[in-house]
Amino acid sequence: MICMREGFGVWLTGLPASGKTTIARALEKALRKKGLNVEVLDGDEVRKNLSPDLGFTKEDRETHAKRVAYVTKLLVRNGVAVIVGLISPFRNFRENARNQIGNFVEVWVKCPLEECIRRDPKGLYKKAINGEINDLTGIQDTYEEPLNPEVMVDTSKESVEESVNKILKKLEDLGYVPQTGTN
Ligand SMILES: Nc1ncnc2c1ncn2[C@@H]1O[C@H](COP(=O)(O)OP(=O)(O)OP(=O)(O)O)[C@@H](O)[C@H]1O
Ligand SMILES: [Mg+2]
Repeated sequence: MICMREGFGVWLTGLPASGKTTIARALEKALRKKGLNVEVLDGDEVRKNLSPDLGFTKEDRETHAKRVAYVTKLLVRNGVAVIVGLISPFRNFRENARNQIGNFVEVWVKCPLEECIRRDPKGLYKKAINGEINDLTGIQDTYEEPLNPEVMVDTSKESVEESVNKILKKLEDLGYVPQTGTN
C-alpha cells in the first residue's frame, strides 16, 4: 500500500514586491528536493488563468482569493504541497482560506513599504505614485498586516535562503515535511 503524505498550503501574503514570488520559487525547489509533490499558485499567472474576468476592487480581490483557496483545497486533500503567492490584503480573505484548506501555514512576507517602492520590479509603484493606476495595495489600497501568522519573514533583513529555512523549519515542526536528514 502506498502511504500518502498529508498535503498542506503555504500561503504567502505581503505587499507588492515584498518577495512572495521569489520565496515561493525557492521554497518550491527545496520541497521538491525532499521528494514532495509541489504546486505553486502564484499571483499574476494564476490571476490570468483563473480570474481573467476580475479586476482589483475589494470584491474582486476577495472573489479571486476564494477561487485560489478552493483550488488549493482540492490539491491539498490529494497530498500536494501547495505554495500560494497572493497579496491577499484583507485578514478575512486569509481566514477564509485557512478555514477551507485546513492544513494552512500563513507566512507574512514582510518588507517596509519604502523598500518595496525602491525594488519595484514591475514598475507598479511608480505608476501608482504617478497616478497611472489607482488601486495598488500599499499606495491607494489597504494591506491588513497578519496578526498571528505561523511564520513571519522580513525580506529587508533576511536572505531568500534564510526566509526559506524559517518556513521549512515550521513545516518540519508541524509534521508536514520530514525533518532534515530523514525521509
Ligand atoms: N530577501 C529577499 N527575499 C525576497 N526577495 C528579495 C529579497 N531581497 C531582495 N529581493 C528582491 O525583491 C523583489 C521581490 O519581487 P517579487 O516578484 O518576489 O515580489 P512579490 O511579492 O511576488 O510581488 P508581487 O505582489 O508584485 O507579485 C525581487 O526583485 C527580489 O530579487
Ligand atoms: Mg509575485
